[in-house]
Amino acid sequence: KQEPLVLGIETSCDETGVGIVRGHTLLADAVASSVEEHARFGGVVPEVASRAHLEAMVPTIERACDTAGIALRDVDAIAVTNGPGLAGALLVGVAAAKALALGLGKPIYGVNHLAAHIAVDQLEHGALPEPCLALLVSGGHSSLLKVTDVTAGVEPLGATIDDAAGEAFDKVARLLGLPFPGGPHIDRVAREGSSVYVDFPRGLTARRDLERHRFDFSFSGLKTAVARWVEARERAGEPVPVSDVAASFQEAVCDVLVRKALDAAASQGIEDLLIGGGVAANSRLRAMAEERASRLGIRVRVPRPGLCTDNGAMVAALGSEMVARGRTPSPLDLPADSSLPV
Ligand code: KG4
Ligand code: ZN
Repeated sequence: KQEPLVLGIETSCDETGVGIVRGHTLLADAVASSVEEHARFGGVVPEVASRAHLEAMVPTIERACDTAGIALRDVDAIAVTNGPGLAGALLVGVAAAKALALGLGKPIYGVNHLAAHIAVDQLEHGALPEPCLALLVSGGHSSLLKVTDVTAGVEPLGATIDDAAGEAFDKVARLLGLPFPGGPHIDRVAREGSSVYVDFPRGLTARRDLERHRFDFSFSGLKTAVARWVEARERAGEPVPVSDVAASFQEAVCDVLVRKALDAAASQGIEDLLIGGGVAANSRLRAMAEERASRLGIRVRVPRPGLCTDNGAMVAALGSEMVARGRTPSPLDLPADSSLPV
């Protein structure tokens, strides 16, 4: 008997994603992004994102079905991100998922966006190692999570106390005159720069901070330090070495993320570290995590960059796991919850 065919819908931010999976096999991952419509504002505008989801939803569903070579009626279950995220954006996806579930007479599974960023890895590397330690770094979140059962048991160990890692990348990119979203641009220009050019602060790593915030992150001080450094250069009428500043900033972020993730894994006796979320696409973060983890005998799993940023495949992947583990489907009046906890 074939495993169930699961269609997943993601609309928590600016990507309209529709993914189709069977078991751990990815059949389609269609994404429409409104990122260019937000670029001139330097950040995602919720109202613009909601309208874009509404326009993109049906064509993206059709594109995913075409790619997978299936008809909608073949789908066995619908999964949808019902939080956390932008309220209006989530509502578009949840409404679409309910319409499909009702029309097809199939169950609907509300999934948590953060858990989906973790579950997506099984599409590339097979069944998740559980328990594992997950470092989740995106535009909206930076968290360390202990995952015992990705469909139910995700325990937060720490999180950012101010900006998310991706937000810091985006803000520093803006300071350096790079386009939005800035993460991929910093990653690119940093390759030509020196990561030891400026010794930027490592947030919440001082001994006194570790007592209360051992597994928490803080990036706003780092962002301010970069801003001050750049301003000082400009005031002195000197050029800003963009790639060196980008590389030094990136090094500071990655250093703290990797250090704390490995400390958390070791403290829990966990040997598998999974990195997910948009910032997991960062090439320096991937290399540094691999290098330092291997010295400690910790295995690292990071999905390929295209699966790290928001997409529908991650939602379908978690939905598929919920079906496989016999989780109860959600009621058809499933609410969208912009601050849904993990
Ligand atoms: O997971 P995601 O697509 O959306 C959210 O749920 O937030 O993450 C988007 C974030 C943005 O802040 C973007 O700048 C960052 O991920 N990002 C990166 C890279 N690619 C995307 N940050 C650093 N390096 C990258 N290569
Ligand atoms: Zn995300």
